[in-house]
Amino acid sequence: MPPTEMDTQASNRFVFFGASGDLAYKQIFPALLAMTRRDNFDLPIIGVARSDWSDDTLRTRARQSIEENGNFDAKVFDRLARNLHYIRGDYFDDKTYQTLCETLGSDARPLFYLAIPPDSFAEVVQRLSQSGCSKNARVIVEKPFGRDLKSAQTLNRMLRASLPESAIFRIDHYLGKEPVQNLLYFRFANSFVEPVWNRTHVDSVEITMAEQFGVKGRGAFYEQVGAVRDVVQNHILQVLALLTIEPPEGDRPTAMRDDKLSLFRAMRPLVPSEVVRAQFRGYLDEPGVAANSQVETYVALKMHIENERWAGVPFYIRAGKKLPVTATEVTVRLKSPKPVVFDPMTPNQANFFRFRLSPDVSISLGARVKHPGEAMTGAPAELVEHFHPGDEMSPYERLLGDALHGDATLFSGYESIEAAWRVVEPILENPLPPLIYEPGTWGPEQANEMMAAQSGWHNPEPEQKS
Ligand code: BG6
Repeated sequence: MPPTEMDTQASNRFVFFGASGDLAYKQIFPALLAMTRRDNFDLPIIGVARSDWSDDTLRTRARQSIEENGNFDAKVFDRLARNLHYIRGDYFDDKTYQTLCETLGSDARPLFYLAIPPDSFAEVVQRLSQSGCSKNARVIVEKPFGRDLKSAQTLNRMLRASLPESAIFRIDHYLGKEPVQNLLYFRFANSFVEPVWNRTHVDSVEITMAEQFGVKGRGAFYEQVGAVRDVVQNHILQVLALLTIEPPEGDRPTAMRDDKLSLFRAMRPLVPSEVVRAQFRGYLDEPGVAANSQVETYVALKMHIENERWAGVPFYIRAGKKLPVTATEVTVRLKSPKPVVFDPMTPNQANFFRFRLSPDVSISLGARVKHPGEAMTGAPAELVEHFHPGDEMSPYERLLGDALHGDATLFSGYESIEAAWRVVEPILENPLPPLIYEPGTWGPEQANEMMAAQSGWHNPEPEQKS
């Protein structure tokens, strides 16, 4: 469909629902400051929430948030603060939308950000539309998009009854991360990678998303999701997609979305026998958690991609809270050279690419290097390139900026989200209770058994401070 006038015009108001919430505090205010600092952002910003606040309370909250989570700069903050306005209102009350429409004014092309509980998305969008506030608007919808395939389909139908598809931006902040983008860049910008990036040369792929912390007071939210819905169906599958998609053809904005969709469709739906679910001891004592909760805080699983490039290559995925470190890493292991001509090799110690995506960023190549001397023997060596974050954009800064300009390249298309739900659907309902693991360990023993053929998981190291 050719772009409409609205598709190419930048939004001129930014409205965020959930202004008093956690996401606004941790991510949105710091992103707004960073956008203001880069001088590309000077427009009315309206926070909406139920709390009994004024414009000044919103500004104070923004200041605290930025002092805690961003790079505070008094001059820039003053510029931002002048643009901040607050509307107090219930999300399900017509009056809220009347006030909002009046505040927006008649020439508004607003970008709405729904940083609110997912079960309110559909109704808020419907009310925005019925009240006339969503004329010329774009809407960013936070994850999780639905809680299974059926609810995602219903949500999508409801959103599309109120807004055109080109106005809906389904956000996954992993897609805005620099090192995640670099996966794609590294693959296709380096001629030595592509020839080995396939089932002939790749033995297995491992992705670990480990978090040292627990649910950080978000027990009530976490009870609705668990590790599979919280980070696997979205963040990890997106990382896997960038690692495995075909080279995007041309620079059509939709090329990457189409390639991802084909990839998700080639993923075999998960089977419970290849999944280990577990819960850290102590989770049941967290505020907001049911006394008999069976929600998993850890999952390890094996995936398969049934296409020409990847058939037969196992993909091992692991994500969990209260693990020994916080780190997200991808390891692509190549098959061992055969026969081993020089000295016996310990599997996994060489012939791999490793991408460390957070908190510090590096790319490394596992190789073997000869010992000095007459014998043809050597040792594993890891050739590491570390990247120290500089003045790069945070994922939210990047994605909010893209959405303001109507650029959906780094947002998930609905069909991909649906295809990703199809992959995880068979493991969402769990007749068996989760295993229990001790906080500070790498999860239950059963997850190691799954990796026995691969000589075990690679456990990421703690963060390297520069
Ligand atoms: C969020 C999840 O989407 O991603 C959290 O809800 C998780 O549970 C977080 O901790 C991880 O994001 P990041 O950017 O800190 O790796």
